Amino acid sequence: MMREGGTATSRGGGRPSDAEIAELLAAGAGAPSSHNSQPWRLRWHAGAIEVHGDPARRLPAADPDGRELRLACGAALVNVRLAVRAQGRRAHTQLVPDPDDPWFLGRVRPGGPLPPTGWESELAAAVHRRHTDRHPFDGRPLPPVLRDQLTRASWRENCRLVVVGDVVQRRRLLELTAEAHRRQQADPAFVAEWERWIGHEARSEDGLPPAHARRSPRPDHAWRPRDFGGAIADDDRLAGAEDAAEDQPTIAVVASYEDGVLAHVRAGQAMQQVLLTATARGVGASFVAPPLEVPDIRAQVRAVLGGVVWPQVVLRLGWGRPVHPTPRRTTAV
Ligand SMILES: Cc1cc2nc3c(=O)[nH]c(=O)nc-3n(C[C@H](O)[C@H](O)[C@H](O)COP(=O)(O)O)c2cc1C
Repeated sequence: MMREGGTATSRGGGRPSDAEIAELLAAGAGAPSSHNSQPWRLRWHAGAIEVHGDPARRLPAADPDGRELRLACGAALVNVRLAVRAQGRRAHTQLVPDPDDPWFLGRVRPGGPLPPTGWESELAAAVHRRHTDRHPFDGRPLPPVLRDQLTRASWRENCRLVVVGDVVQRRRLLELTAEAHRRQQADPAFVAEWERWIGHEARSEDGLPPAHARRSPRPDHAWRPRDFGGAIADDDRLAGAEDAAEDQPTIAVVASYEDGVLAHVRAGQAMQQVLLTATARGVGASFVAPPLEVPDIRAQVRAVLGGVVWPQVVLRLGWGRPVHPTPRRTTAV
């Protein structure tokens, strides 16, 4: 993390103090990312928090074109924006697609005083409470009003949330997920990359360290491919009975109308709006990434959804339980 300039002032007016900037950076760093790779560089520069993708933290096997990296950076932008609002300032977000600097993805500039709305405060409070919930859900469906709220969360960033309710569509998506997972597990480059990030003693600030994950995934559950298992799952007294209640989780796809650098950042923003809304309402969420990481299977998922929108993230949603946080890199100002 880098810092330039900055003076001490009170909340809601003038330039943020160092402590406030540290809060903004920490909020950005709380975003989810594939393998907890945290593929961003966040810095305070010229009066704004900048979000840069970090190519050194890309996952070439799982994410060869950097799409998931940009999703994670979009999520970081939303977290920063909400943290600025929680500090009582206007937040001006700018996405900055620039062919000469393809890793510079966006910035949030704190503006003049403006108290947050109640809903912004709730979402901001969810930033550090949100954790990926891989537990089995308890089988109760999400009420329609909540689904509507999640759908609107995605609209706020000009993306659709497609809830996959149709039995035939769900079955097809499940088949595609299993096929993608099987292919990835048979790919030595994917497995080697997994082993670099997951279950490593040496990693205490990124990846999924042994306290959170075993080096090899547990036998997979249909909607929870890449279930990392590990110590948290070992504590899980439901371990034996878990699949009885799972699973009719709500499966929802964040989808964009285009598919390029900007669309990926926007979809990451929509993903985070959905995730934070879920957290604020006590709903757990995890990711079903494999079917969108294998290009020809992603094309088939797109066809399953009607062929118009571009699927960006498949989410599994339901009533979960408290989850332990994963580590983050230090966010020094
Ligand atoms: C694009 C994307 C894909 C992900 N794919 C998976 C996945 O396939 N399986 C999984 O268990 N978690 C997946 N995750 C969740 C990350 O592992 C998680 O965000 C990271 O470990 C940080 O933990 P947190 O979300 O609890 O903060 C994904 C996250 C993102 C943003």
